[in-house]
Amino acid sequence: MAIVFSGIQPSGMLTLGNYVGAIRQFVSYQEKHQCYFCIVNQHAITVPQNSEELRKNSRSLAAIYLAAGLDPEKVVLFIQSEVPAHVQLGWILQTLSYVGELERMTQYKDKSRSQGSSIPAGLLTYPPLMAADILLYHTDIVPVGIDQKQHIELTRDLAERFNNRYAPVFTIPEIQLPKVGAKILSLQDPSKKMSKSDPNRLGTISLLDPPKEIEKKIKRATTDSDTRIYYDPVNKPGISNLLTIYSALTHKTIDEIEKEYQGKGYGHLKVDLADIIVQALSPLQEKYYHLIESSTLDNILDRGAEKANQVATKTLSAVEHAIGLSRK
Ligand code: AQP
Repeated sequence: MAIVFSGIQPSGMLTLGNYVGAIRQFVSYQEKHQCYFCIVNQHAITVPQNSEELRKNSRSLAAIYLAAGLDPEKVVLFIQSEVPAHVQLGWILQTLSYVGELERMTQYKDKSRSQGSSIPAGLLTYPPLMAADILLYHTDIVPVGIDQKQHIELTRDLAERFNNRYAPVFTIPEIQLPKVGAKILSLQDPSKKMSKSDPNRLGTISLLDPPKEIEKKIKRATTDSDTRIYYDPVNKPGISNLLTIYSALTHKTIDEIEKEYQGKGYGHLKVDLADIIVQALSPLQEKYYHLIESSTLDNILDRGAEKANQVATKTLSAVEHAIGLSRK
C-alpha cells in the first residue's frame, strides 16, 4: 500500500485554499493508502504565535481534518511536537542542507520580507524540518498545493543526498497536486495566494465563515472592468480565480461554466458561487462544531501520536545508525 503524508500549520483558521489545495485531496486517499496527516505546530512557530491561540488552533485543525471527512480508524492523525523524531531528523537534514538552496526558497523570501530586520532562523530552516516530516514515514505521495512544490523538490534532493552519502534509508516522495485549485488566490489581491495568515480578512474565505460573510466576501471580490465571463488568468485574474473555485467545488470544467454564464454578468456568477461555497462548507461546519466540544478529539490525537512515534523512531534509528550517531 502506498504511503501518503501531508501536514498543515495551525497558524489560523483554514481557508478555502487549504481546503481545495490540501484537505480535500487527503480524504480521497484514505481508503486505499496508508495515510499520515499532521498538525505541524513546530512549523507554525517559525513566525511569532500567541501561545493560547496556537493551542486552540491546533485542536481546531484536528477537528477540521475530521469534519472534512478523515476517518481516524483509517488514517494516523497527530501533532508534530508530540513526535520528537521530527525535530531530531530535521536537525540532521539541516546539516545536509546548503544555506544557498534554503535562501532560494520562495516561501522564505516572502515570509522573511514581513519580518523586518529580525528574521527568525527557523524561517530559513523550515524546509529541512518539512523534509523530515515527510521522510520519517517512507512517504510515496505528498498531496499539497502548488506553493509547496519547491519544498517537495528540496525534500527529494535531501533524501537522495542522504541515501548517496550514507545508506539507502529514505523513499523518494512524489508531489501530488489537485487537478483544479492548486493555487486559490486572494479575493482582494489576485496576484497573491489565499492565505490563512492574511490580515485582510476580505481576501480569504475561512472554512468557518457563516453564509452571510461568504456572500459579502464573494460579492466584494476584485474583478475587472470587462463584463464577459471567461478564463484568462493574465488579463482577468479575479474572474479566473472565481471560475477556478467554482470548478473545484462543482467538478464542472471551466469550459462548461463559461458556456453556462455566456451573456450573464459578474453579479450572477458571484451570487451562484457564494451559494456553492455555502453548500460545500455547511456540512463541514456542522460536524466541526460538534467535534470541537467532544473529548474524542484528544483520544484520537493520543492514538495518532503513539502510532506515528512507532514508525518515526524506527526511521530515526536507521538514520542515526547510518551516520554513526548511535553507539552500535
Ligand atoms: N491558496 C491556496 N490554494 C491551494 N492550496 C493552498 N495551500 C495553502 N494555500 C493554498 C495548501 O494548503 C496546505 C497548508 O499549508 P500550510 O498550512 O503548511 O502553509 P501554507 O502553504 O503557507 O498555507 P497558508 O494558508 O498560506 O498558511 P500561512 O498563512 O500560515 O502561511 C499546503 O498543502 C498548501 O500547499
